[in-house]
Amino acid sequence: YQNGFLPPPLQIDDKVRAQKITTRLSGMVLGGRELARVGAVFENELQRGLSEQPSSLQMENTYVPELPDGTEEGLFLALDLGGTNFRVLLLELRAGQLVREDVKQYHISDALRLGSGEDLFNFLADCVLDFVRSEGMEKESLSLGFTFSFPMRQHSIHSGELITWTKSFKCGGMGGVDVAALLQRCLHARDLDVTVRVLLNDTTGTLVAGAHIDPAVGIAAILGTGSNGCYMERAERVQHWEAAHARVHDVCVDVEWGAFGDNGCLDFIRTDVDRDVDAHSLLATSFTFEKYIGGKYLGEVLRAALAGLARARLFPAAPAPASLHTADISAIEEESSRGECADTLRILEAALGGNVRLSTEDARVAQHVAAIISNRAAQLVSVCIATLLRRMSRPYVVVAVDGSVYKRHPRIQALMRRYIALLAPQHRFSLLAAEDGSGKGSALTAAIAARIAARAD
Ligand code: GLC
Repeated sequence: YQNGFLPPPLQIDDKVRAQKITTRLSGMVLGGRELARVGAVFENELQRGLSEQPSSLQMENTYVPELPDGTEEGLFLALDLGGTNFRVLLLELRAGQLVREDVKQYHISDALRLGSGEDLFNFLADCVLDFVRSEGMEKESLSLGFTFSFPMRQHSIHSGELITWTKSFKCGGMGGVDVAALLQRCLHARDLDVTVRVLLNDTTGTLVAGAHIDPAVGIAAILGTGSNGCYMERAERVQHWEAAHARVHDVCVDVEWGAFGDNGCLDFIRTDVDRDVDAHSLLATSFTFEKYIGGKYLGEVLRAALAGLARARLFPAAPAPASLHTADISAIEEESSRGECADTLRILEAALGGNVRLSTEDARVAQHVAAIISNRAAQLVSVCIATLLRRMSRPYVVVAVDGSVYKRHPRIQALMRRYIALLAPQHRFSLLAAEDGSGKGSALTAAIAARIAARAD
C-alpha cells in the first residue's frame, strides 16, 4: 500500500548527490500514511464546513438541485470568467442536445484583472454587446448563465457574492457585491435585454455537463489554472440553506478545496518549497492547497524546488521566479518517459537565462523533481475525490474532470486512476473528461433552472 504511492528513485551516476537530493526532497514525497491523514483532515474540514463551523472548506450550497434529464431546451448565452481567457458563448439546446454553439474569446488585460471590479464588469458587458452584435441578436431577449469560477457565498441559483479572488485576479471594490446583480446592471446599461438566470462555479458546470454525457456522474473536479471540486450531497446535511428555498433531496455542493489548509490544518505536508511558492504568489497565505495542484503554480513549484537544490549546491543555479510553467513540467515529464533529455535541457537553460551549461545528470535531476511534483499533485486531488466517493457511498460514481492540467499533463490521468483506486478500494468509479463545463454546463444549468421555475409556477 505504502509503496504504491512512491515515485521511482532518482537514477544518476553520482550516488552521493542522488542521496542528498532524495533527502532534501523527502518532504514532498507523500506515503500512504500521510495521505490517509490528509484524507481524515479533509473529511473533518468538510463536515465542519457543511455545518457552518469554522473550516478551510467552504462547502458552498450552489442551489443546483438536479442534473440534466434530457428535456433541456432553449437558446442561452454563457459567460466563462476565471481561467486564462474570458469567453462568451451562444448555445442552443433541443431536447437536451446541443445543436448550436458559437464562441468568442476575449483577452483580459492585467490592468483589468488587477483594477477595479466595476471596470472589469463593464468590460465583460462590453464583450457581451460585441458578441450579440456579431450574432445579429442585439435586440433579442436572452437568458444568460454566468460561470464565475471563484469562491462565492451563494444566496440562490442566480445570486451570490465573491468571497475572495484567486488565480490571477485581484480586483478592488467587490466586498459584499452580488456579482450577478452587478453584471445585470452593466448589461442593462448597454440596453441589452439579457437576463442572468444562473450564477455558477466551473466545477458545477462540469458536473452538469458531465451528467449530460453520463447520468452516473456525481462528482466533478477541475485541474486547471486552479483546482476545485463539487459533488451531489444530501440536502439534509447542508446547513446553509437560505429561507426562500424549498428543501430538496440532493444539492450540488462546491467544496472550494483550493483553500484547504488555509487555517493551518495541512501544515504537516508544507515544505520550504511551498513557502517559497506562496511568498512569490499574487495572493500570499491563501489558497494553500491550490498551490500544490493548480496549473498556475506547478511550474513555480519546480522553480522553487530547483532553487532549493541550488542553494544546497545540488543543482548548478536557481531559476528566476516565474521562469518555469506547468507546460514545462508536462514537456519534461513527457520526455522523461522516452528516456531523453534534450528538451529538458533546453527548458532549464532558458529558465536559467541562457548562460549556464547543464549536464545530462542535471536534466535527470529536474525530471525526477518534476515527477515528484506531479505525483504529489495527483495524490492530493485523489485524496479529495476518494473521500467524496466514500461519503457518497453509491455503488458506482463517474467523476467528471476538466481543466488544462488534466487535459495536457501526460501522466496525471493515469496517476489519478491509480491513487483513487488505492485510496478508496471499495468504491467503483471512473473518470470522464467533461469538456467545457463552463460553457455547455452553464447553458444546461440555465435550462435546468428554467425547468424548475416552470414547475413552481
Ligand atoms: C479556484 C476557485 C474555484 C474554481 C477553481 C478552478 O480554486 O476558487 O472556485 O472552481 O479555481 O477554476
